[in-house]
This record gives sequence, C-alpha cells and structure tokens, in this order.
Amino acid sequence: MRERVFSGMRPTGRLHLGHLLGALPNWVRLQDDYECFYCVADLHALTTRYDSVESMKADGIEMVADWIAAGIDPARSVIFRQSEVKEHSELALLLGMLTPVSWLTRSPSYKEMVGELGERVATFGFLGYPVLQTADIILYKAQNVPVGEDQLSHLELAREIVRRFNQFYGPVFPEPKALLTSTPKLLGLDGRKMSKSYGNTIDIAEEPGSARRKIASMFTDPARERLKDPGNPDVCNVYSYHAFFEAPAEELSEIDAACRAAAIGCTECKGRLADRIMARLDPIRERREELLSEPGRIETILDDGRARAQVVATEVLGEACQAIGI
Ligand code: TRP
Ligand code: SF4
Repeated sequence: MRERVFSGMRPTGRLHLGHLLGALPNWVRLQDDYECFYCVADLHALTTRYDSVESMKADGIEMVADWIAAGIDPARSVIFRQSEVKEHSELALLLGMLTPVSWLTRSPSYKEMVGELGERVATFGFLGYPVLQTADIILYKAQNVPVGEDQLSHLELAREIVRRFNQFYGPVFPEPKALLTSTPKLLGLDGRKMSKSYGNTIDIAEEPGSARRKIASMFTDPARERLKDPGNPDVCNVYSYHAFFEAPAEELSEIDAACRAAAIGCTECKGRLADRIMARLDPIRERREELLSEPGRIETILDDGRARAQVVATEVLGEACQAIGI
C-alpha cells in the first residue's frame, strides 16, 4: 500500500510562474510514489472571499485545467472539490469541539491576515481555517502533506489537533507530516516578492504577447543604465530567471560573461529569456485550451474524483464518529 499525500489550493485565480516552478512540479513528482489527493479548496477560499463568489466555480475549473496541463494525472490522482465531499465540513465541526480557540488566535498567519485585512476576515470561519485544513488531511488519513514554508505552522497545528483527538477517543488518525521540498525563490517581475496582488506575475495561461511584454519590462541590474555599461548578473532578476528556467550551464556562463563585458544588451537578454519561458508555457497552454474546449471535461474529472474521495471520506468519518460514540 502506498502512503497517501493530501494537498489543496484555493481557487482564487489563475496559477502563475511561481506555481509552475514551485508547488506543481512537486505535486507531479509525488504521483509516482504516493496515492495523491489534490483538492480544490473552495471552502477555504470562502473564508476570505465569502463576499465575492461570482467567479469561484470558474476559477476552480481553470485551476484544475492548469494542474492537469502541468502534469497532474487525473487517472492516478484524485482531483476533487472540497465542498462536494460533505464529510470535510462535518469532520471540521467535530475537530472544532476539541480545538482550543487560543491555538487558533495565536497562529501567525491568522494574526497577520487580520492585521492586513481587518474585520472583514475576523470571522468564525476564517479563525477555523486550520481546523478545516486538518479535517481535509486526516479525512484521508494522509501521512504526507507537501506544503510551502508559509504553511508549516498550519501543519504543526494539525498534528496537535490529531494528538488531542487520539488522546480522547483512541488512535484513529495518523499525525500528518510536512513534505518540505525546496522550491526556487522566484521573485516577481519587478524584483519584489512574487504576488498576484503586486501584479508582478505571469500566469501559466498568459496570452503569449502579454507574457513577452511583461518579460520585456522586467527589472535588471539597476546600475546598468546604458548598453555600454557592464552589468552584474549576480544582482539581476532576469539572470536568475534564466537559471530557474533551466538554461544550460554553458549558456548561463556565456550570458554571465557577455553581461559583464557589456557584449549583450538587456533587451536581447530578455528576448532570449522570453523564448525560453514561452517554450515551456506553449505546450502547457495548448493542453489547457484542449481540456477547456471540450465542454464538461473538467467537471467529469471532478465528478470522478469526488466519487473516489467519497469512498474514503465516508469510511474515515464513520470511524471518527464511532470513536467519539455518536
Ligand atoms: N491552505 C492551502 C492554501 O493556502 C490550501 C489547502 C486546503 C491545503 N486544505 C489543505 C493545503 C490541506 C494542504 C493540505 O491554498
Ligand atoms: Fe541582466 Fe541580462 Fe541585462 Fe545582464 S544583460 S543586466 S543579465 S538582463
């Protein structure tokens, strides 16, 4: 029996280059060694976008198209919508009974988000975000959760909640552990942290003309003002992108030398980067378009995933209820 992996993403909009080099290749690789459950975390999205739900369903469909085009295989992995397997909600309610509020209010991401977004996210649902996330994972008794560093505190909380449950009711759930795979530190196009809210990203599905324009506008070595000024690739985001998008070693050292000797201009350098990135995005975008052009294709995949998830969810929630005695 292969161990299980559970992970999810909130359907909040299009996936971008950060996902393409970060979470997605990890998810794809894990399919070889684990039974993977990948969930469209629409309930989690609702904790913050409860007041702007118009595009949520469509965002989920687009996101799943991104996943599959990037290599998530719906035949091997279970891809489904969180809200369609009602056991997530019920298990979250049960876990809420034994989760001290103080564990939730002390969570760094809770404090940070309420600090940033204020009263709008100071809701019961948002406070319970990590409880729902714990329910997601343990509903499948998943032992492994690929997460970014920002999610580590949530996972630690999940382990604490599991320990508490097992103490009271018996050893029903395994403690999930984080699969922390190092992801490249890709900065945004402007050199700041990559974030959709900064508008410094390129979507996986970005229209090629737009992607090329964005690459052409990337920040470079700020000290290199004129073509004849030598540049320093060590402080240039464009150079890092060449590396992250796997330019061969010889080409990297060629660019490095040419930049320092002012033998290559930034416009040309970015043009080469654009070709490199588009060579990667073109086939993914085409697969996406193919998937989305067939009406109902993604919904069918999600229906199939829901059915497969449901089998496990019913069984495990049953065990939990039996342990509690309800
Ligand atoms: N919180 C994750 C995010 O920020 C999504 C998510 C929901 C998740 N449930 C999960 C991640 C369970 C890992 C495990 O998008
Ligand atoms: Fe950066 Fe390339 Fe310009 Fe050098 S030539 S500063 S590496 S964009």
